[in-house]
Amino acid sequence: MLNTITPDLFINNPYSIFNSARENSPVLFGNFLNSTGWLITGYKEVEFALKDPRFIKEGRKLFPPESLATFSDKVMPAIELTRNMMLFRDAPDHTRLRNLVNKAFTPKMVERMRPAIEDIASYLLENRHGYLQHELVRDFSYLLPVFVITDLLGVPKEDRELFRKWSDAFIKFIDFNTTMDDLEAVSDDLGEASHYFRELISKRRVAPQEDLISGLIQAEANGDNLNESEMIATCLLLLVAGHETTVNLITNAYYLLLTHPEQLKLVQEDRSLIPSVIEETLRYEPPVLMTSRWIAEDMEVAGQQLKKGQIAFISLAGANRDPLFNENPDTFDIQRKSFKHLSFASGPHFCLGAPLARLEGIIALEKLLDFFTNPRLLETPKWRKNIAFRGFEALHFEAETR
Ligand code: HEM
Repeated sequence: MLNTITPDLFINNPYSIFNSARENSPVLFGNFLNSTGWLITGYKEVEFALKDPRFIKEGRKLFPPESLATFSDKVMPAIELTRNMMLFRDAPDHTRLRNLVNKAFTPKMVERMRPAIEDIASYLLENRHGYLQHELVRDFSYLLPVFVITDLLGVPKEDRELFRKWSDAFIKFIDFNTTMDDLEAVSDDLGEASHYFRELISKRRVAPQEDLISGLIQAEANGDNLNESEMIATCLLLLVAGHETTVNLITNAYYLLLTHPEQLKLVQEDRSLIPSVIEETLRYEPPVLMTSRWIAEDMEVAGQQLKKGQIAFISLAGANRDPLFNENPDTFDIQRKSFKHLSFASGPHFCLGAPLARLEGIIALEKLLDFFTNPRLLETPKWRKNIAFRGFEALHFEAETR
């Protein structure tokens, strides 16, 4: 069944594809969107794959160098850049990089952001005061996480605009249906981003500030092993991982409320439901649909024989809709008593920014519910054409403002 799926079919309804795959087998082999490998869609199996060290990120270690894809001189620096990111490394390098960022990216630092996030959200909405028609992505959801993550990193306000292009380029670079032509097309943008961070890091070496980049430099100065390429890669990873995904969380949550008026009414009447709206959005319409791992050793999972060197597409969205773990999984219901989701993954790569993403989502919804009255969707929004990331191009709606 997998080989008949086109990117358009997938983007329109990935859940029906994940559901039929799971009904067939929670671990299914086939040709999926031009790659041959395992599609894992059962909750138990997805969690297993995310936690088991035999599912690895650095697939190139499994093959002789001469059998690996070759990249042009233009693309190679961008490949090197991603290879320096913790997201694409396994232990022990992964552990080393992650521990260093953990030191600078503490829960205390996130909590300190609360008033700043509230101010940013209020400021963005004040700009919409008195208008009737709005576009949520452009006017609000895109800007909030960019302002937050650039503040956290210590990027000057006047440079924020540069980041849209770099972030889009990175998403294109790591998505599942990316071609060599796409890689060529976005490599220059990633080179620019890398150059930008190199310069900023050298400025902070001379004049440290209360920001994450200065924190990383401090960690390096304390004798921890983080070289400059890894520092640049980490900055870019935090920028993109902390941005595209959170834009989609905020937009998807508001869209789901607009299209489920009875649920909107519930949360309008009882604001303590806001965290549940965020969690149910994460479960039902997750910003990251899938991730992948390479299989490092032959093994059996769910009765299937997985072989060393094969790739596994791990569907977080499929796991969230597994009826063995969540009742009526295809219903959006903010009053679920207990439920599970894997939208921030699990195991060693569990999302480092999950507390920040949740905080931003909650503050965003609080502010949107306070500011807009009687919101009405103006048109059915279009999904962006990414495979791994789930978000709208734009969300047009009409609402009075308070
Ligand atoms: C709703 C928003 C977000 C979602 C759904 C999300 C989802 C994810 C997922 C699924 C992974 C694991 C990918 C894999 O195992 O292959 C991940 C990793 C990561 N996320 Fe997030 N993320 C979000 C927001 C953020 C934010 C706000 C930040 C930081 C500011 C962040 C930073 C990271 C980092 C650094 C990693 C790599 C962790 C590692 O490899 O150990 N994310 N995220």
